[in-house]
Amino acid sequence: MAIDKKFIDQFLNVTSKAALASSYLVGKKDKIAADKAAVDSMRNELNKINIQGKIVIGEGELDEAPMLYIGEKLGSNNGPEFDIAVDPLEGTNFAANNLPGSLSVIAIAEKDNLFKAPETYMEKISTKVNEKNVIDLDFTVKQNISNLSDYLNKNPENLTACILDRPRHKEIIEELKKLKVNLKLITDGDVSGALLVTEEKYNVDIFLGIGGGPEGVLAAAALDAFNCNFQGRFLFKTDEDKVRAKKMGINDLNKKYELNEIVKGDSIFCATGITSGDLVAGIKILQNDFVSETLVTHKSSGLKKVIKLKQNL
Ligand code: FBP
Repeated sequence: MAIDKKFIDQFLNVTSKAALASSYLVGKKDKIAADKAAVDSMRNELNKINIQGKIVIGEGELDEAPMLYIGEKLGSNNGPEFDIAVDPLEGTNFAANNLPGSLSVIAIAEKDNLFKAPETYMEKISTKVNEKNVIDLDFTVKQNISNLSDYLNKNPENLTACILDRPRHKEIIEELKKLKVNLKLITDGDVSGALLVTEEKYNVDIFLGIGGGPEGVLAAAALDAFNCNFQGRFLFKTDEDKVRAKKMGINDLNKKYELNEIVKGDSIFCATGITSGDLVAGIKILQNDFVSETLVTHKSSGLKKVIKLKQNL
């Protein structure tokens, strides 16, 4: 079934209000306070909506997070049953240090249609190429670049790869340099990074590397609406991680997940800018109003655009 269009504005309101709340803490060097402001606002606004919502990706499990924890029920408890994935403040460093790219993000699907991702790393890959066997997590970097180059009919020196700038990516980055692929190294914020493959204007052909698992699921929801490709594989370092994963129903810890195993059916995705970044501009506070920009997708209606909104403070 499709998710009713009437919910688009309501979820857009949730992320724009969370972004506003966090924007007051931009540049205050306090990641926790900036996150808490977004979390409180998001929870408050979600509870006003006529849904039976359940957090499947949030601030952690109940023992780690008092609000927006995995399993928390939200909404008026009246209305359709939705799975909700949230990252109230994606890019805590960016917000705390007044750097570009912090977002407030939410993804909604119908009950049992969003993957319940554990708080662990995920190996990810995204491209706009939706054909099978062109790009694959199981291929080497060299193979993926060669396939992408053939498929897009672009030399590797005209391809751009986006990846988090982390020591763990040293080998991938070296390999990409050797292949003469242009790099877009990001210091944080791989929800946004993964989404740069969605439109020509961002000039990114492939996103790859290891980042947060929850961020992978959120990005996948938007990539699905853009008809792009995404694959992810969780990485479990500790035995505790593995036990938690099993408890969440993940039996094969090495499984490579395709996009349609991560997000099923219809979905809504909203990402509002807190500070301005590649995808959207940040919050602007005026005398009595504030202006927000949100990337919104709604799979079934084909909506995928940046919506600029002026709301009362
Ligand atoms: P936070 O907003 O929680 O700080 O996450 C930012 C982020 O860059 C994510 O976008 C990314 O998935 C993750 O951190 C990468 O983790 P790490 O900093 O450990 O490499």
